Amino acid sequence: MKMKGIGLTGFALTLTLMLSCAHGDDDSTTDKTLDNQNTVIENIMSRRSVRAYENRAVPRDTMELIAECGINAPNGMNKQEWEIRIVDNPEFINGVTELFVKENPDASNDPGFKNIFRNAPTVVFIGAPDNTYSGINCGLLGENMIIAAWSMGIGSCCLGGPVRFLNSEVASEYLKQLKFSDGYSLIYAIGFGYPAESPEAKPRDKGKIMFID
Ligand SMILES: Cc1cc2nc3c(=O)[nH]c(=O)nc-3n(C[C@H](O)[C@H](O)[C@H](O)COP(=O)(O)O)c2cc1C
Repeated sequence: MKMKGIGLTGFALTLTLMLSCAHGDDDSTTDKTLDNQNTVIENIMSRRSVRAYENRAVPRDTMELIAECGINAPNGMNKQEWEIRIVDNPEFINGVTELFVKENPDASNDPGFKNIFRNAPTVVFIGAPDNTYSGINCGLLGENMIIAAWSMGIGSCCLGGPVRFLNSEVASEYLKQLKFSDGYSLIYAIGFGYPAESPEAKPRDKGKIMFID
C-alpha cells in the first residue's frame, strides 16, 4: 500500500539509495543525491523537539499506529522487553504537574507553561527491565515512534526531567497508575501533540563521524 503512495520515482530513488548504501559508495556526488530525496530521510532531517502544542490530544487510533511503529523497532533477540503506556488523561497529566509545581514553584514560570511534559497533551511512558540492552531497546522504540509521528505532522519531545520526578517517592501514586509489570521500571517518556511552534534545527557536529580506513 505504502509503495503505491511513494510511486515509481520514489521506489527507484529508494532502490538507488539502498544500492549505494550496500556498496559503501563514498563518492560525494552520490552523497548529495541522498539529501532529502526520500521521505524517511526528509523526516529524520526535519524533525525537531517540540515544546508547544495545540490544545488537543493525538487521536488514540493514531497513537496506536505510532506505538505499533515503536514495537517494530529492532530489539535484543526479539524479546520485546519494553512496555508502553499512553496517557492522554488531563487528570493524570495535570495531577503530576500540580504535584511537581508544589515542590518546584519556579517550574510554572516558563512562558506558555501547561504541564511538566513540555506541554504535551499526550504522553507516552516507556518501561523496561533493568538490563544491558534496555537503553538501546527503548531508545530505538522511541525513535521509531518519534519519526512515525513526525511523518504524520505530530511533534514530540523526549522527556528525562519529568521521569526523574515520577520515579521519586512523592509521585509514587502516579507511577503505580502506569501499571508497569513487576521488574519493569520507567525509563523515559515522550510527549506528543500537534505542534504550535516550528523550532530551528540545533547544530550537529559532523566531526563526530569518522570513516576508519
Ligand atoms: C534522553 C533524552 C532526554 C531528554 N530530556 C528532555 C527534557 O527533560 N526536557 C526537554 O525539554 N527536552 C529533553 N530532551 C530533548 C533534547 O533536548 C533534544 O532532543 C536536543 O536538544 C536536540 O534537539 P532536537 O531534538 O530538536 O534536534 C531529551 C532528549 C533525550 C534524548
